Amino acid sequence: MNKKFYITTPIYYPSANFHIGHCYTTIIADAIARFKRQEGYDVCFQTGTDEHGQKIELKAKEANVSPKQYVDEIVKNAIDLWDSLDISYDKFIRTTDEIHEKAVQKIFVKLYEQGDIYKGEYKGMYCTPCESFWTNTQLVDGKCPDCGREVHEVIEEAYFLKLSKYQDRLVEYIETHPDFIQPESRKNEMINNFIKPGLEDLCVSRTSFSWGIPVPFDQKHVVYVWLDALTNYITSLGYLSDDDEEFKKYWPADLHLVGKEIVRFHTIVWPIMLMALDLPLPKQVFGHGWLVIHGQKISKSLGNYKDPREYIDKYGLDAVRYFVLREVPFGNDGAFSEEALIKRINADLANNLGNLVQRTISMGHKYFSGKIAPKKVEEAIDLEFIQSINQIYKTVQEKMDNYHISEALEDIFELLRKSNKYIDDTTPWILAKDESKTHRLETVLYNLLESIRVCANLLKAFMPSTSSKILEQLNKIDSLDLKYLDNNSYDLNKPYPLFKRIEDTKN
Ligand code: MSP
Repeated sequence: MNKKFYITTPIYYPSANFHIGHCYTTIIADAIARFKRQEGYDVCFQTGTDEHGQKIELKAKEANVSPKQYVDEIVKNAIDLWDSLDISYDKFIRTTDEIHEKAVQKIFVKLYEQGDIYKGEYKGMYCTPCESFWTNTQLVDGKCPDCGREVHEVIEEAYFLKLSKYQDRLVEYIETHPDFIQPESRKNEMINNFIKPGLEDLCVSRTSFSWGIPVPFDQKHVVYVWLDALTNYITSLGYLSDDDEEFKKYWPADLHLVGKEIVRFHTIVWPIMLMALDLPLPKQVFGHGWLVIHGQKISKSLGNYKDPREYIDKYGLDAVRYFVLREVPFGNDGAFSEEALIKRINADLANNLGNLVQRTISMGHKYFSGKIAPKKVEEAIDLEFIQSINQIYKTVQEKMDNYHISEALEDIFELLRKSNKYIDDTTPWILAKDESKTHRLETVLYNLLESIRVCANLLKAFMPSTSSKILEQLNKIDSLDLKYLDNNSYDLNKPYPLFKRIEDTKN
């Protein structure tokens, strides 16, 4: 049986329609899922929505609809967005799904009965737009450290999860599992800034609003956000339901991909919940940086964004996917701007990739009526080029194993650049003038076609539709080898441009 790979995105708050920042996490997860499938893994790729809480309740009230009606609209829009981005998720979990709600109630009762959840009193500073409680030390100038808005004090009866009880076990786990939190810098931040100063128990129920999963034995309480949210990763697989086959098959997750601001919930609260439930911990939590616009996080609360579909309509889906995957060194923040997007389209997609494919296939038609036989006349310059083609898969695989997606793409585009250079160095148009060089010319084109074919196969995970278009032009949709082949004759289809240069850079 194939090895399994369970990858998740965070479940997003459907408090407003999603922006390019949400697309960022989801596109990365999609590229990783596709790459793993291509490598033969049995992949389960999950995304979803985190639908309860005070903020949604307030938004629905403002819109004069029920919370469920409110989120249904946004979820519909989100699913359409994921379709527009060609996101190949296998599962979509909503925290309003019955399977989730029932399992969360069972988890709550179980943890209460075994003494890990207890009743107490909650006192805290609360930021309503971010739905976050903060301790006084976390506030910045008395305001919410995430969005900079006013916070207010809240005191109410609440249930708590005993994080403190598991603190030492958690530190030991993190220290003995160096891959658990990545990148490394986030691990140090978690240990030094959050765990070592001492864990405060976590509030897991509220009475001040009602849009949530009721606590079964104390109905004025609803389960509070992180216990409801984090458990999605197991409830969707059927944990504590009648059918837990998928849970047995896919848990523990291989990768939780999350933004840097929620790493602490995934590497402190979530592992502790799992320890309390006596379940294995996820293999890795990767905390990525944010896409920023003019130095600010793109955010619903700040309202500084366009619908991502506008970019797709204007520049094409694969341009958006490529930009997001390529522009941000994984783990760090990266700037999103249309200018930068256009630059990438022109330099990488239209020039480097598009031109290479078009001029190679055009020469194939012009000089050999589209029919190119395997190599006949080899020259010294070919050796290094063929070696680069043969090495590319291993290089990309190594980068993808560490989720260095931007670098993996950089390597593929470096081979495309080398291919363009190979054309400049071998000057096919000069070879074409000399009849005695026909076999050499054919070999040059053959080598180029092999390079393009391998690159197109490697681009599948990142730009699925461009990859198919190239393979279709090469008439090689089933030639999936990721190495240079000696005997792969071509009967080319007509070329057409893959990406148009964008001339107007002032938008
Ligand atoms: N509902 C919680 C997650 C619960 S997971 C058990 C949540 N939702 S969110 O909608 O606010 O954010 C979801 C994810 O989107 C986070 O990982 C966050 O980092 C990511 N992003 C939101 N804005 C972003 C950018 N501007 N750039 C990159 N990622 C961003 O938190």
